Amino acid sequence: VVGINRQTAIYTGGVSGRRPRIPTDVTQLEERARSVMSADAFGYVAAGAGSEETVRENRAAFGRWALVPRMLRDVSKRDISVELFGRRLPAPFLLAPVGVLELAHREAELAVARAAKPLGVPLIMSNQGSQPMEQVSESLGDTPRWFQLYWSTENELVESFVSRAENCGCEAIVLTLDTTTVGWRPRDLDLAFLPFLRGRGIAQYTSDPVFSRLMDEASTPRFQPRPTLAALRTLIELTRRFPGPFAKTLRTRRAQVAVQRFSEIFSRPSLSWDDLPFLRERTSLPIVLKGILRSEDAKRALDYGVDGIVVSNHGGRQVDGSIATLDALPDVVAAVDDRVPVLLDSGVRGGADVIRARALGARAVLIGRPYVYALALAGAQGVRELLENLIAEIDLTMGLSGCQSLDELDSNLLRRRA
Ligand code: GLV
Repeated sequence: VVGINRQTAIYTGGVSGRRPRIPTDVTQLEERARSVMSADAFGYVAAGAGSEETVRENRAAFGRWALVPRMLRDVSKRDISVELFGRRLPAPFLLAPVGVLELAHREAELAVARAAKPLGVPLIMSNQGSQPMEQVSESLGDTPRWFQLYWSTENELVESFVSRAENCGCEAIVLTLDTTTVGWRPRDLDLAFLPFLRGRGIAQYTSDPVFSRLMDEASTPRFQPRPTLAALRTLIELTRRFPGPFAKTLRTRRAQVAVQRFSEIFSRPSLSWDDLPFLRERTSLPIVLKGILRSEDAKRALDYGVDGIVVSNHGGRQVDGSIATLDALPDVVAAVDDRVPVLLDSGVRGGADVIRARALGARAVLIGRPYVYALALAGAQGVRELLENLIAEIDLTMGLSGCQSLDELDSNLLRRRA
């Protein structure tokens, strides 16, 4: 029914001469977003590692499975809700953590939160957010939120982020495993663009009391840009972005120090299984590991008392040539054997993808780039439409495949394409 309601709203809008704000077709959505975003911003969002083979493979993997719909099964009543960590979610998807949303829209996460709130679609707030998690949480009301964590070289900062997330009402901590350092991304490299160096996407840090103290321990700047006009413009830009009065920030060089300190402590390539107990001891929230692609890693995660897994290759942004997540999913699902929920991201674009991931054992999926493009095109309203469209498409695809609920989806509904 939600699917039909959405269709009706769109078609009756057309009778009064109203068209949707954002294209329902994802290829067009991306094209339109490209036309309104700056080259740097679009490049950063769209980028994949290396030749972007993995970005393409993530999509291709869905195409290797065909749905074989069942007929005459009374699908007049349908339910696409799903249970996750004791919460009933309206649909089997969450908003993936995406950093630096200010690249898409001035209102960034606050717009996303406003869109997600009335629908109850959970938001996973990014460690590289454009706005502090406290502000975003306020805009979410009762809608569930999780926090995505990058493990800094400074354990104190990890602790601080986790305790802030708890205070914000986050219902899970999502530890990203695959980005202990940023991948090789030609689009960004060719534009020589890394948003963090311009003070973007570091709001969780600049709003953090521990980070503020760590800033005082910054070493001499590693990034000493040549004093060009562009460097001056960047300096003004990042100084303006830093919380507090402009003149004072400029005088004290706090914004430059923040960027410098951030780049020193952002990630920890030495991260290993032995670090997990530190996190486990510091939070009673469910811990979800994001970036698992191998069954033995999934098994090991269970041994460490992890509460959930996201099969992810970071939207193809980290390891070029990496396995597509849908191809990795069945082995991980088999290894986990229903002991904890397994989620999937990377390449999910429409209802049929969600249905297929579900049929192969994912409890739910995360969507990323599509909502960023919708945000770029039409702010909160764009994201709201995108979410409503995806909910509708899941509902209709499930029903038209002969299923009343997500529990009826299994591999029997799929055939491997030749
Ligand atoms: C960092 O998280 C990125 O994927 O850009």
